[in-house]
Amino acid sequence: MKITIFGSGYVGLVSGACLAEVGNHVVCVDVDKDKIVRLNNGDVPIHEPGLDAFIERNMSAGRLSFTTDIDHAVDHGLFQFIAVGTPPDEDGSADLQYVLAVAKSIGERMNEYKIIVDKSTVPVGTADKVHAEISSELNKRAKSMEFDVVSNPEFLKEGAAIDDFMKPDRMVIGTDNPRTTELLKVIYAPFNRNHERLVTMDIRSAELTKYAANALLATKISFMNELSNIAEQVGADIEKVRLGIGSDPRIGYHFIYPGCGYGGSCFPKDVNALDRSAKEIGYDARLLKAVEAVNASQKEKIFHKIKRYFGSNLSGKTIALWGLAFKPNTDDMRDAPSRIVMEKLWECGVTVRVYDPIAMDETKRIYGDRTDLVFCENPDMALEGSDGLAILTEWNVFRSPDFFAIKNNLSHPVIFDGRNLYEPEQMKTLGIDYFGIGRGLLSQDTVLSNCEEPQETKREPNLVA
Ligand SMILES: NC(=O)c1ccc[n+]([C@@H]2O[C@H](COP(=O)([O-])OP(=O)(O)OC[C@H]3O[C@@H](n4cnc5c(N)ncnc54)[C@H](O)[C@@H]3O)[C@@H](O)[C@H]2O)c1
Repeated sequence: MKITIFGSGYVGLVSGACLAEVGNHVVCVDVDKDKIVRLNNGDVPIHEPGLDAFIERNMSAGRLSFTTDIDHAVDHGLFQFIAVGTPPDEDGSADLQYVLAVAKSIGERMNEYKIIVDKSTVPVGTADKVHAEISSELNKRAKSMEFDVVSNPEFLKEGAAIDDFMKPDRMVIGTDNPRTTELLKVIYAPFNRNHERLVTMDIRSAELTKYAANALLATKISFMNELSNIAEQVGADIEKVRLGIGSDPRIGYHFIYPGCGYGGSCFPKDVNALDRSAKEIGYDARLLKAVEAVNASQKEKIFHKIKRYFGSNLSGKTIALWGLAFKPNTDDMRDAPSRIVMEKLWECGVTVRVYDPIAMDETKRIYGDRTDLVFCENPDMALEGSDGLAILTEWNVFRSPDFFAIKNNLSHPVIFDGRNLYEPEQMKTLGIDYFGIGRGLLSQDTVLSNCEEPQETKREPNLVA
């Protein structure tokens, strides 16, 4: 099959490489010239495990190419995949300008039947807009030509994207034409051998399915974070609660980890976009608003714990910060909790010494050179000369650190753990003050003497943090 993919970001690159891997001829097109030059030089612009090898192998085999030539791209594929960004507009709704620009490009150039496959996450009704845009361009050219628009939302997870694409849980296809469904079945047959994974439906349901999946996952996270805040007030350990509820098969263990908030390119924008879509039809999506509100305050949680420990005047302090990416195995910093924590600390005059196995370059790209941001070659270097340690991404390398090095290098032996990597009891034995998420009250005797009375914690301080 000949396939064109518009957009060479996380979704476009992974989809392109995997579709080429199974024998298709794929052209990836992007408007970002630098990105295409890098890709053509064998330099993959994002970190995704296994992606480099897939791209290299398929480029060498002549099945995968990268271009900025839109004429060539539209001419190439019977299938024209749209995998461009749908960032939040000013009001939080999905900005469809890139999707519609692709539709326009296709309409301006197509000279035969094409199937336009929308992989970007888009609000219900976008396929109709893509259809209208292409029709309008064809009309301008006085051309009458058949084409179909399909919704095929992508469910890959950054950090495990190749595996997710090659062995998907499900492939959702929304069409209004049985013939296109059959053609898409051919494209996806190599990924559908073990058991039936194709879920076919109408276009609007497919568009909504993607938002439903992300909104539900975000809801699970915010629910657990809400519970962790209650646990902190009542002196319960949310990790015990997690195990207690996860054992119920109706709940399950997946996606019920409390933490310092969800980030990344999908959950925050998709929850907001779904809320905006609901508003447009006059529905007040109260649950979605609450999910986002809980998340926004949770991202500040670690900052508040630091402030509560050291006192409101943080100026001149240095904090070691382990983990910058919004989750492990990616360099994606979009809406990462680390950004909120760093920015809030900087506002207070704090220097951060940071380490992340992959996301340092991306952090440098975003924040540039600043004296209060020090990049360290390894986790131990970040500790040197720091007053405390904050952990914001659960990279494997942080799971079993040298606690004696932590204790000896910090001016105060304290860990603010946004991912609950360690056991409070063990930290107590080691003589390290430890503040996880939802693991009991912040004890007064571990608050430094110059600290103000915490706003959030009004109970008797009789429990270990
Ligand atoms: N990143 C994920 O994990 C993920 C997972 C599932 C779905 N999605 C959705 O997939 C879509 C793409 O996400 P992403 O993370 O890959 O985005 P991205 O920002 O990484 O990449 C988008 C690419 O599209 C390019 N582009 C913009 N306009 C273009 C045009 N007119 N023609 C060609 N290229 C153009 C940009 O230059 C960029 O390289 C979004 O709607 C997102 O919500 C993302």
